[in-house]
Amino acid sequence: MKTHRISCKLFPTPLSLAAVLFLGSTAASEKPPAVFEGKDTLLRPEGYRQWVFVGSALGLEYSPNEEKQTSSNLEYKNVYIDPAAFKAFSETGRFPDGTMFVLETASAETKNEPGLQGSFQKEYLGISAAVKDTGRFPEGWAYFRFTDRSGTARTQATPAPKAACFDCHRQKGAIDNVFTQFYPVLRAASLGVAQPEAKRARP
Ligand code: HEC
Repeated sequence: MKTHRISCKLFPTPLSLAAVLFLGSTAASEKPPAVFEGKDTLLRPEGYRQWVFVGSALGLEYSPNEEKQTSSNLEYKNVYIDPAAFKAFSETGRFPDGTMFVLETASAETKNEPGLQGSFQKEYLGISAAVKDTGRFPEGWAYFRFTDRSGTARTQATPAPKAACFDCHRQKGAIDNVFTQFYPVLRAASLGVAQPEAKRARP
């Protein structure tokens, strides 16, 4: 009798099929991750910590000066991608229009004492974002900082000048302006998918 009940669950009832169809259609009509006001003012993203976390780096930067960073001024950077773009990238190796990344910075604290060594993230400092929207931005990608010079959080941001962000991303990001060379989660997700836009496999 028990076996019979279990095997029955393998066959979807019309009701459960309807539920699946309904859920599918809600997912498709979800709001895009990037919410703009007017032409190009991006509102501060909400809920990005529930997106896909693609990697974290400590004190990583392309810097012309070779001065050694000290552990006291290092920052962590945590990078998230919106779930729909993650799915599309896994399937096609490309970032679709509407892709949004959020980069969150945090201060680093280093412990080097008997019984506790290593580095951890201490305080969140701020966020920036990258959005691909070829209809809105002729270059495809635009970059936004949600912290002003005094360190205060902004609720909205306009695109940063091209030389401030875009140029480095274009030159050094491995796939379509994105630093996939530092994101093992994205590399693993797209394994086996052809990546025509990949410039290089390593930093
Ligand atoms: C000199 C090079 C350089 C410049 C200039 C630069 N970035 Fe980046 N950016 C990086 C690197 C390297 C990463 C990889 C993540 C990390 O640093 O941990 C990155 C990652 C990002 C990401 C995560 C998605 C991605 O494309 O990989 C965002 C969002 C981002 N940067 C925003 C900005 C914004 C906004 C600016 C301008 C205010 C900016 N960046 C300027 C080098 C740069």
